[in-house]
This record gives sequence, structure tokens and C-alpha cells, in this order.
Amino acid sequence: MASIITSPGMESSPFLQHHSASLRIWHWLIFIFITGSIITVLINSTVLSPRDNIKLVQEQLTRKGVTVTDDQAFAVSHEYEDKMWNVHILIGYGIAFLLLARVVIEFTQAEDEKMRNRLKKAILLSKQNGKNSADYKHYIRVKLSYMLFFVLLFLTVITGLGMAFGRELGFSREIHGSLKNLHAIIQYFMYAFIVIHLAGVIIAENGKIKGIVSGMINGND
Ligand code: HEM
Ligand code: HEM
Repeated sequence: MASIITSPGMESSPFLQHHSASLRIWHWLIFIFITGSIITVLINSTVLSPRDNIKLVQEQLTRKGVTVTDDQAFAVSHEYEDKMWNVHILIGYGIAFLLLARVVIEFTQAEDEKMRNRLKKAILLSKQNGKNSADYKHYIRVKLSYMLFFVLLFLTVITGLGMAFGRELGFSREIHGSLKNLHAIIQYFMYAFIVIHLAGVIIAENGKIKGIVSGMINGND
């Protein structure tokens, strides 16, 4: 079975899998784009937070002999935040493209490397009782976490694009507000996935599934 190869200490481990070149490239691109997107969010909520920069704008203008109100200073600092949101939106288009690319990759993958076939196999394995039963139960949870991630990514992209093209689509302020709220809430689930995912692969690499991380680089061919 091409997608199941053995790992020291764990016979026929389904965890150490082949990854096609396109999936590996996709994985590292989504890692870069999502990290970039999160960095823009972090910058806007810290260094470029408009409310926090009101005093800074006022101080700089006072030194040049101009006095402005909080409202006027806010308008200036808000512009810098907007510039960063434009970067966030550009990265967002990249993420939307990558989501589409993942759907195309799914159709071009070898049969036993397709997500749905791996999920089916995971369900079958999770029903087995034996030496590796606990590992198989863990395996299905890992696969389900990927499915959940794709649902979250889809919702992030839909709400993000909805905001970006809201005017063209004729969305009311209320709809824009709801999309923004939903988009903002989903981010926390994304962060949770990333933390659990990173912890998971590090624990696996240091435990029974040595080579799981390099497999995402060399494909375990
Ligand atoms: C993991 C990926 C992403 C994260 C963590 C994320 C997070 C956020 C957060 C926290 C906000 C601020 C919401 C608020 O002010 O309440 C935001 C705004 C926004 N995001 Fe994202 N986002 C992601 C991906 C995307 C994508 C794929 C798009 C699609 C184009 C997108 C488009 C937008 C837009 C248009 C805004 C509103 C910016 C503004 O206020 O002018 N985001 N995002
Ligand atoms: C923003 C950060 C990341 C996201 C959103 C992410 C997302 C994903 C997704 C969706 C998959 C499943 C791929 C598929 O079959 O479609 C995956 C697998 C994998 N990722 Fe990540 N990843 C991230 C960061 C990382 C990092 C930093 C590492 C390495 C330290 C890593 C190592 C792996 C490995 C080894 C697998 C395969 C695990 C397995 O066979 O079950 N990921 N990742």
C-alpha cells in the first residue's frame, strides 16, 4: 500500500505518509501566507493601532506648530492601519487562490493519497482493536483536524472576500459588520489549530513517528 510505510517502533504506521510534490509546495506556501496574514493582524493591533497612535500624531504636529483634535489625529493614524489592511487583503487573495489550488491538487493526487481516501482508511483503522488501536484512534482525530482546518479556511476566505468586495456586491453595513465579526471570531480557531498542529508534529517527531516533519519536505518517497 503506497501511502502506508513503516516507522521505527511502530509497525505499518499510517502516520508516516507520502506527500506529493504539489502538496508539499502547497503546505509550505499556506504556512507562509497564513503566517504573513497573522503578522499583519498583529501589527495592526499593536504598533499601528489607530487609538494608540493619536497621541503620537498630536505630539509630532505640535512640534511643527500645528494643533489637531483627537478626531483629526485619529484620521491620520487610521490611514496607516488601512495601508496594512491592504497588505492583509493582498495576502488574503493569495490564501483564497491556495484554497482553490488545494481543491485542484485533491483531484490530481494519486488515489491512495487523496484526502477522502485517507479519511475512509482512517475510519476503518479506528474501528480496529489491536496493538495499535490507540494510535489509529489518534490518526483519525488528526485527519479530522485537517478537515476542520479546511472548513475554517473556507469560512475565513468567504468572509474576507465578502468584506473586500462588499461594496461591489452591494452589501449593507449590517452584512459587512456580521462578516467582520465572523471573520474575527474564526481567527481564534485558526490559532488553536496552528498551535495544536505544531505541538502535534513536534511531539510525533520526537516520539514514535520520526521523520514526519522531514516527510513534508522530502515527501517520504
Ligand atoms: C488566517 C487567515 C486570516 C486571519 C487570521 C485574518 C484575521 C483578520 C482580522 C483579525 C481582521 C480584523 C477584524 C476586525 O477588525 O474586527 C481581519 C480583517 C480583514 N480581513 Fe482577514 N484574516 C485572514 C485571512 C483573510 C483572507 C483570506 C481575506 C480575503 C481577502 C481577508 C480579508 C480581510 C478584510 C477585507 C478585512 C477587513 C480589513 C479592514 O478593516 O479594512 N482576511 N482579518
Ligand atoms: C500556518 C501554519 C500551518 C498550517 C496552517 C498547516 C496546515 C497543514 C495542513 C492543512 C496539513 C494537512 C495537509 C493535507 O493533507 O492537505 C498539514 C500537514 C502537515 N504539516 Fe502543517 N501547517 C502549518 C505549519 C506547519 C509547520 C511549521 C510544520 C513543521 C514544523 C508542519 C508540518 C506538517 C506535517 C509534518 C504534516 C503532515 C502530517 C501528517 O502526515 O498528518 N506544518 N499542515
